[in-house]
Amino acid sequence: MYNLSTVVRHAVIAAAVFCGLSTPVSAQLTIPITTAHNALVLHADATGRLNTLYFGEKLTDTSDYSRLAISRRDGADILSSAYTPAGSTSLAEPAIAVTHTDGNKSLDLRYVSHTTTSENANVSTTAILLKDPVYALEVTLYYKVYANDDVIEQWSRIDNKEKGPVTLDKYASANLCLKADRYWLRQYHGDWAKEMQPEESQLTHGIKTIDTKLGARADLFEPSVFMVSLDKPAGEDEGSVLYGSVEWSGNFRVDLEVDPNDDLRIIAGINNYASPYVLKPGQQLTTPAFLYTFSARGKGEASRNLHRWARDYKIPNGRGDRLTLLNNWESTYFNFNEDTLRGLIKDAKKLGVNLFLLDDGWFGNDYPRNDDHAGLGDWQENRKKLPNGLIALVKEAQQDGVKFGIWVEPEMVNPKSDLYFRHPDWVVKQPGREEHYYRNQLVLDLANPAVQDFVYGIVDSLFIKNPGLAYIKWDCNAVIYNAYSAYLKKDQSQFYVDYVRGLYHVLDRLRAKYPAIPMMLCSGGGGRVDYGALKYFTEYWPSDNTDPLERIFIQWEYSYFYPAIASANHVTNWGKQPLKFKIDVAMMGKLGFDIPVAKLSPADLAFCQNALKLYGEIRSVIWQGDQYRLSDPHIADMASMLFVDSARSSAVLFNYLANNRYGAGNKAPIRLKGLDPAKHYRVQEVDRYPGSRSGRENNGVYSGDFLMKIGLDPQINSSRTSVVIRLTAE
Ligand code: DGJ
Repeated sequence: MYNLSTVVRHAVIAAAVFCGLSTPVSAQLTIPITTAHNALVLHADATGRLNTLYFGEKLTDTSDYSRLAISRRDGADILSSAYTPAGSTSLAEPAIAVTHTDGNKSLDLRYVSHTTTSENANVSTTAILLKDPVYALEVTLYYKVYANDDVIEQWSRIDNKEKGPVTLDKYASANLCLKADRYWLRQYHGDWAKEMQPEESQLTHGIKTIDTKLGARADLFEPSVFMVSLDKPAGEDEGSVLYGSVEWSGNFRVDLEVDPNDDLRIIAGINNYASPYVLKPGQQLTTPAFLYTFSARGKGEASRNLHRWARDYKIPNGRGDRLTLLNNWESTYFNFNEDTLRGLIKDAKKLGVNLFLLDDGWFGNDYPRNDDHAGLGDWQENRKKLPNGLIALVKEAQQDGVKFGIWVEPEMVNPKSDLYFRHPDWVVKQPGREEHYYRNQLVLDLANPAVQDFVYGIVDSLFIKNPGLAYIKWDCNAVIYNAYSAYLKKDQSQFYVDYVRGLYHVLDRLRAKYPAIPMMLCSGGGGRVDYGALKYFTEYWPSDNTDPLERIFIQWEYSYFYPAIASANHVTNWGKQPLKFKIDVAMMGKLGFDIPVAKLSPADLAFCQNALKLYGEIRSVIWQGDQYRLSDPHIADMASMLFVDSARSSAVLFNYLANNRYGAGNKAPIRLKGLDPAKHYRVQEVDRYPGSRSGRENNGVYSGDFLMKIGLDPQINSSRTSVVIRLTAE
């Protein structure tokens, strides 16, 4: 079924008519792009201009789409363009702006043809070809539909068929147009250890822009994920909401404009800041995808659709297994040697995790990496710390039945490194200007193919020299200051785009050679996660802030967009909560540890070991199940998160006290969701710390109907701050 490939040519309107100055189109055309529940309906009018007629819940009778009309008020039609060109009749914020070979800045785009290609029963792509009637410039709009997930990836390809170069001054991936009375935007801001801080506000007329200009680690202050509720703020289970995100790990820009028609125009893609992109004759540019999903049944459904889509189509091995691990970063920082690490490998085994992850500090000789001022770029084992090389440790781990993983930050260089002296031209910095550092480091110029080879070679040679190496943590701790590529010379405006393309090129090569290796996408915290990068990484690091109380909020917000299987959550010494609380929070994703195991009391060690055994039993429900946010800690005293497997026979409910004021706790039972009302579930409180007070409802059996209508009381209060409940259908 999945290999079936059919090409359905719906309609072709004679391209010839677009070659002259006058561009009449004899036929009008409606193009519905539909998912299981929704429709995006485009319309080519008599002149060939392509507009958005409708975006929202699918109509039962598709012929009704032809009843929809674009307002004929002067100027109104130009606002609903499916891909607004600049400089001709449209005066709205453009999706595309160009400078032709002759210096002319006008662009008009008219429909030529469209095709739909099916990959399988769920996935199809509609491609719509548009052409300027005066200039030989073509734009193809792509809509890749994941029907059952209600997800669309949209991108565009711009073809320069002119005789000389064309400069793309703006080149968005998508240009949506939504209709509602009012719009509420939920957007995010943040910083190191404060990722994914939400703000929700009503959009007013004019343009609201979410963007970044940081180059690398681009999400640090503002990620590209957002959601827009239509008419009223959507809840978990009701209300119409669109989720959007640019699949791009560099500068992005999303413009949200409530226009004079009161419609919402969303124009999303690569940020054109400092990035006019020149296409030589015959060249083309394909933009990254803008990803969106729409639900008329609230935020919960939208996020579950996105999670399912991500596991099935984007994240490597999204339906597969993951490794639990012990990381040494916070227990040793840079201060370790071979003996220390041998001990930690033994600790990993004792703890019961699958893998030991060696973090920063293992490399550099002329400039040893003993703190974050030196060594980045010199990826040879430090001979003092590791006299027998990494291979000795990899083998040691293998003998102990533990896998071995390693940290790299291959895009970066410290000025105190051999690499910096050998290849100053590989470093992103402005000639003639003072260097400016972020965490004492600079970024390597991934626009340069030689640098791409170098970065690829770092990881490749680690695998070649260390057979058995089983995991990569890929870090990225600096933004790009003083953006300048010695390689690009006069073409500096391509730098930000070519940097990300260079990065993806490296990752493509690595994934081609090492398709099954789990890799963590890290960025001094969560400054980098997006679906462009998650094509290559099995998991991401949400934040260096592992205080579990903070993590409840951070993970809550990430959970709207990314599935739990991709969230690398480590138990550390951050925060004042007890060990059990920390482990419970970290279990709501991919569990890891970063604590000095040797310092654990026997009781705490036994608790960790048992928690890992329990995690082995429930992790597939967490990783693959449907996720329901039941009690929002922004509003209530407690956070409550439920995972239910697809058969609705197993579920895990996590509950936490998120407010430490007097008397705080859950006031009423928590009503569950997603269960089978007809099934009976054994309810069991699990992961209890020995000797702690158990809940009243331990070991009861309740119908799904009861649990969803009346609910379950986790009895969260100041003496029971974290409660995990497992439900198993009998
Ligand atoms: C930042 C990461 O987020 C940490 O987990 C750790 O790997 C350090 N970098 C190492 O420098």
